[in-house]
Amino acid sequence: MASSSSKGYRTRLIHAGESGEKGNVPSAPPIVPSATFVMPPAHVDAYTDPSYDWTNHLTGAEEVTEYARHTNPTIRMLEQKVAAAEEAEAAAVFGSGMAAATAVLLHRLRAGDRLVLADVCYVSVSEFAHDTLAGLGVEVVRVDPTDLDAVRAAVRPGTTLVYIESPTNPIMRLTDIAAVAEIARAAGAETVVDSTFATPLATRPLDLGADWVIHSLTKYFSGHGDALGGAVVASAERIRGLWQDSRIRQGGVLSPFDAWLIARGMDTLPIRMAVHEASAFTVARFLEAHPKVTRVMYPGLPSHPQHELARRQMRNMSGMLTFQVEDGAQLARIMARQLRVFQFAVSLGQQRSLLFYIPAEQVGQPPFHLSEHALRGYQAFGGKGLFRVSVGLEDAEDLCDDLAASLAMLP
Ligand SMILES: Cc1ncc(COP(=O)(O)O)c(C=O)c1O
Repeated sequence: MASSSSKGYRTRLIHAGESGEKGNVPSAPPIVPSATFVMPPAHVDAYTDPSYDWTNHLTGAEEVTEYARHTNPTIRMLEQKVAAAEEAEAAAVFGSGMAAATAVLLHRLRAGDRLVLADVCYVSVSEFAHDTLAGLGVEVVRVDPTDLDAVRAAVRPGTTLVYIESPTNPIMRLTDIAAVAEIARAAGAETVVDSTFATPLATRPLDLGADWVIHSLTKYFSGHGDALGGAVVASAERIRGLWQDSRIRQGGVLSPFDAWLIARGMDTLPIRMAVHEASAFTVARFLEAHPKVTRVMYPGLPSHPQHELARRQMRNMSGMLTFQVEDGAQLARIMARQLRVFQFAVSLGQQRSLLFYIPAEQVGQPPFHLSEHALRGYQAFGGKGLFRVSVGLEDAEDLCDDLAASLAMLP
C-alpha cells in the first residue's frame, strides 16, 4: 500500500484537503455554496492571451475555481480526502454513486466497444448497461467473475472495460480482484471495481491492479445516512480525462453541502469501520447459531464459501451480511412491524442498522436484467430470498435482541 507521507492514515484522512493556514481561520472547514467565482486578474490576463492553452483548465489541473459545476473548494476538499482514503493519486466526486459509475462507463465506452460486467452487480448498473449502454451500441457481456476461466473467455481482445463489485450487493459474493485485473490487463482492458461494500479500510483495488474504483459515498464514507454522493478514484491522468468528460459535460455534480457532510463523516471512517466489523461478527455469529436461520453469509465467518479470499483481500470484513430463513416473506412482514432498533429500509453503511428482504424469484423479473446464469449465482448465495443486513453502530447485543424478538414470532 503506497504511503504518500510519514503521518498515519487517520491523521492524513482528517487533514487532507484542509487549508492548514495559521491565521485567524475557522478550524472546521467552511461550506462554500457559491455557484460562480470572481476571476483573479492574473487569470483574465492569461486567458485573453491568444496563446492560452485551455487543456489544464478543462481537465481540472488548473487551480482556478471558475464555476461550481467544474469544481468548488468544498468539492476539492472532499476529493482530496477520498484520494487520501484510498491512498491514491486522485478522485472525482459526483452527485451519487450511480453518477460516479455512469461517469466512468460513459467516459470509457463507445459504440462497438465491449463491456464485460459481473453477472450480479448493483442492480441500477445492470439496468444502465442493458437499457442505456446496449442502446448506444456497446456490447454487454455478463460473466460470473468467480469463474476465472469464464472471465478469460469473456475478456477477449477488444474488450474495453471489465466491471466488478466486491463484495457484491446484495449476495455478499467476493471477486478475486487481482486475478480479474490481471486477465483484463493481458487483454488490453481496464478494470473497474465498485468497492462500496468493502471501503478502503478493507481493500485497495488500485493496489491489486484495478484501474478505476467506484464508491457510493452515500454509504460508509458519509456514514450517517444524510447525504448522497459518489466517487471515482484512479490515477491523476485518468481522473483528468474523466473530469472534463463527465463533470463539465454531463454535469452530475455533488452539492457543496452534501460534500461537506460526507467530508465530516469521513473523518471517523476508520473508527466506524472497526465497530461495524466487530458488531457484524457478533450479529453474524448470533444468527448462525439461531435454529430458525438456515444460512448466514458474512465474509468474516469460516462458513462463507470464499472465506480464504476474504482473509487475503479484506483487512476489515465490513458491516454487511445476509441471512436466510425457511419463509423469508413471512419474517419480512413480521420485521416490518416488530423491529425496534433495526429499520426495515434499503441503503447501508450508516450508524443506524438497516435491513430489508429480497425475494429471489423477483430479482428474475425483466427490469433487473439478470440472466438465467446470474439467477443461479444469485440462488447459490441467496437461496429463495435473503435479508440484507447493514450492521450499524448501536450496541451489538441490542441488535441481536431485536432480531431474536422477530425470529421468535416466526412459526
Ligand atoms: C454497491 C453499490 N454501488 C453503487 C450504488 C449506488 O449508489 P447511490 O445510491 O449513491 O447512487 C449502491 C447503492 O446502493 C451500491 O450498493
